[in-house]
Amino acid sequence: MSLKIHPDAITALKDFSLPEQIGFGSTISPVMMNCEYKDGKWGELEMVPYGPITLSPTCKVLHYAQEIFEGLKAYRVMGKGPFLFRHLENCKRFNHSAARMAIPELPEEIFMEAVEAITAYSADFIPRESGSSLYIRPFIIATEENLGIKPSEKFSFMVIASPSASYFASGSLKVLIERNAARAFTGGTGTAKTGGNYAASLLTSVKAVELGYMNTLWLDGENRKYIEEMSGMNFFAVVNDVLVTPKLTDTILAGITRDSLITLAKNLNIPLKEETINIDSLIESIKIGECTEAFACGTAAIITPVELLGEEDGTTYELKYPIGPISKSLKENLLAIQEGRMEGPMGWIKTIEPATY
Ligand SMILES: Cc1ncc(COP(=O)(O)O)c(C=O)c1O
Repeated sequence: MSLKIHPDAITALKDFSLPEQIGFGSTISPVMMNCEYKDGKWGELEMVPYGPITLSPTCKVLHYAQEIFEGLKAYRVMGKGPFLFRHLENCKRFNHSAARMAIPELPEEIFMEAVEAITAYSADFIPRESGSSLYIRPFIIATEENLGIKPSEKFSFMVIASPSASYFASGSLKVLIERNAARAFTGGTGTAKTGGNYAASLLTSVKAVELGYMNTLWLDGENRKYIEEMSGMNFFAVVNDVLVTPKLTDTILAGITRDSLITLAKNLNIPLKEETINIDSLIESIKIGECTEAFACGTAAIITPVELLGEEDGTTYELKYPIGPISKSLKENLLAIQEGRMEGPMGWIKTIEPATY
């Protein structure tokens, strides 16, 4: 594959400078990648200036939510790198989501080239402080102009990127246990990274904020008994010095951070169990002091400690540590690997050569 570069993209890069406050997800790199699917095949990948896109009001993504996305990061702490972290795993999950949403598979080389090129061309804009990064957002939307409920025959694959500070400005989370609404059901779309799953979580997130919480803990759709995950993160706890996380089912998004932490825990000799976790048993073990730590993990959040779990009626269950020793050690190890300060397992990091223009 060779990347086509629109001349205006180079002008956009030369004219761009980072604002003083970058936040998370609000400062956007001045270029984006684009590749169109029509007549049964994906076309040429092109880098164009970042900007609004034109869609027909009848295009299917606007009505039937036929779309998927990914989220990954490139790090350039203290000028080293940029380093991409396990982006082949994001490519695999992207195509897993594509299959579930009746979107044609995107060739691996297009995904990888798009992600690597936006990192290379955004290299100058990646913040250098530990915890900051370039947050990269690949996505596919259904663009066919037709109101019939059937899979689109036209799609746009795009990649945008956002120079970003840490996701959670505050250090820890107060988490609402959602006992009524559910995020995913067996046979549904829970393992796909598709917008509808997130849209369905928003009502609870409004309720959570009104009640003084910052995030939601979802339980299984069938029984509302077993912990699944948070709205954009996986969940871990430490019970009797054992790291526990819900085992993957067809309703939980298989997080790449989750998978990385499982590997790191094994390397650090931290006892680990992937198992079904009953919410009421976990609450009991928090109350009697057996569960001492809990945290959320994901690309954006890295590891963010859970300070307390709580109910809609205001009852709360506080964890012993603001950030416990196991959470802290895993976070330090993961971030050191991602930022290129420590050697990680084979193939986790790819160094990208900054582009010259
Ligand atoms: C619903 C959900 N669960 C878990 C995660 C964590 O996945 P990852 O570690 O690959 O970012 C995410 C974020 O992508 C998510 O959206």
